[in-house]
Amino acid sequence: MIETNTSIATDKRDASAFDVRAVFLRLLRYLFRHGHLLALAVGFMVLTGLIEASVAAFIEKVLKNGFLTGDQWFVKWSGIMLMVVVFARAIFGFIANYTMAKVGRLVIYEIRQDIFYNLLRLPTRYFDQNSSAKNVSKLIYDVETTAVATTDTLSILFKDSVVTIGLVSWLFYKDWRLTLIFLLTIPFLIGIIRYANKRFRRTSKEIQDSMGGIADTVKEASIGHKVIKVYGGQEQEFENFTNANRFNLQQNLKRAKVSAGIVPSTLLLVGPILALILYIFLNYLREGPESAAAFVSYIMACLMLMSPLKRLAKVNEKIQIGVTAANSVFSVIDAEPEQNTGTVDYSETQGHLRFDDVSFCYAQDDDQPVLQNIDFEIKPGERVALVGPSGSGKSTITSLILRFYRPQSGVIRLDGHDLNDLVLGDLRDQVSLVSQETSLFDDTIGRNIMYGMLDTYDEARLNAAIKAAHVDEFLHELPLGLETVVGEHGLRLSGGQRQRIAIARAIYKDSPILILDEATSALDNKSERYVQDALEALMKGRTSLVIAHRLSTIESADNIVVLDHGRIVEQGPHKKLLRQGGVYADLHRAQSKNPGKKGFFFWNR
Ligand SMILES: Nc1ncnc2c1ncn2[C@@H]1O[C@H](COP(=O)(O)OP(=O)(O)O)[C@@H](O)[C@H]1O
Ligand SMILES: [Mg+2]
Repeated sequence: MIETNTSIATDKRDASAFDVRAVFLRLLRYLFRHGHLLALAVGFMVLTGLIEASVAAFIEKVLKNGFLTGDQWFVKWSGIMLMVVVFARAIFGFIANYTMAKVGRLVIYEIRQDIFYNLLRLPTRYFDQNSSAKNVSKLIYDVETTAVATTDTLSILFKDSVVTIGLVSWLFYKDWRLTLIFLLTIPFLIGIIRYANKRFRRTSKEIQDSMGGIADTVKEASIGHKVIKVYGGQEQEFENFTNANRFNLQQNLKRAKVSAGIVPSTLLLVGPILALILYIFLNYLREGPESAAAFVSYIMACLMLMSPLKRLAKVNEKIQIGVTAANSVFSVIDAEPEQNTGTVDYSETQGHLRFDDVSFCYAQDDDQPVLQNIDFEIKPGERVALVGPSGSGKSTITSLILRFYRPQSGVIRLDGHDLNDLVLGDLRDQVSLVSQETSLFDDTIGRNIMYGMLDTYDEARLNAAIKAAHVDEFLHELPLGLETVVGEHGLRLSGGQRQRIAIARAIYKDSPILILDEATSALDNKSERYVQDALEALMKGRTSLVIAHRLSTIESADNIVVLDHGRIVEQGPHKKLLRQGGVYADLHRAQSKNPGKKGFFFWNR
């Protein structure tokens, strides 16, 4: 619940308050990185525009010199002239369009690079608040929309405005009084545009969000398809999807209505004006056959003005769409990366971890912190077991050690250094984590085990890790062995197999600190026993923090920290805690009576 609330809050902030001009300028900066291409495109657009605008003048020449006076030179050469002009228009148009498209594609490429670069460095909080589907939707649709809208805008601004200026100049040259009347429509045009503009800004954001909503639903349905089938969730999922899809439809229809309305309303304005021009021409300006040529050229120019004017009127829509998408895109690029201000030069840890009065909550406004006044220590090479009901904050403690989050108060120290003073990469190099949710990448088993360490490939070490984690047991049954691709999230493997690969990854990393967060929870009893032996060997000589459900693992720990509701209720070695006769002693007794159950894992009150 917390997650959705905050994400909506973020979106609202994006929608209402953003500086359109700043976003637009920033977008232009991406374009200007390709200044020479842009100049080429714009230059040829201007040329294309000039040629198009000259058609009205050419028509008048054809009518007057060709049909009325029969000028010999003109009659002979007009065909060639027309051909040259059409060819020039074709070639210039090609250069202009291709170059502009190239600028657009380059901008898309660069923005995507920037987004993904930052995405990899964003804090865990960001991913708590933004669904992965939303990130995908930003990376794919919003970037595309941004760049296409921007290049379209430039095409319209440079080509259509040249055509417009050319034609309007021609109209003025033919009859300035008449043209002034014609131009009276312009303020009304601007009024229509302003109105549409406002509507567009509203719908663009909604449409982009609804695309993210659709992507979310589809992704959840794909990942959770088994749960949906077993629990008959089809109707519910379909309803969710229908809602997202319908909202998208409604918003698009709203936009389509405004968009479709612009042209007719301009026509409503222009129709009477054209009628007026026709009337004035026939009644006051008719002077012999030559005025027919002038009239045809004049009306042609007026009609030819319509398309570029319509596009110019719609340029706001394009800018709105582009800027809104760009704002969403830039929000990822600007999202603050993980704080990494540590300066302590540090590479080899002794593995002395210490929590000093640490308190932490996920949301700033939570009244009850997730962890309160946590104090404990793991001396170099020691093993500490965390015990407590689910939700008591065990995994949160592991997240704090890896600095996925920072505690609001208190200090966590490694060899006496505040974790915040260490360089993030250095800190994380010291720690191996095997967690509840094993995360595999859609790659081969071998590359999953050596993930992030491919440049230091060591065959002997890999084989040792595979053996220790009992990966070899199922490996030889796979025809491709280490080269087997595991599928998205490793879905082509069983839960136990995935977990063994994750354990092999930790063994291969061979780091001084080891965190096992219910690392064997997905294993059956037999493989668990095997893997447990490997983990025991691995933990020897390393600082280890273990969250486990097996009594034997807990009993042999140097210190047992018992958590409840984010507080340490007791801590000490097994024997001492049993003697104390507190919570741990009770649980231990219950567990010993019923050894078949996976004990502490199920501690729940
Ligand atoms: N990313 C998160 N955002 C907000 N709350 C969280 C997040 N992760 C865990 N919590 C909450 O913090 C509490 C402790 O969770 P956790 O550390 O995972 O417990 P444990 O590992 O002991 O089962 C729970 O109440 C849980 O709902
Ligand atoms: Mg947990």
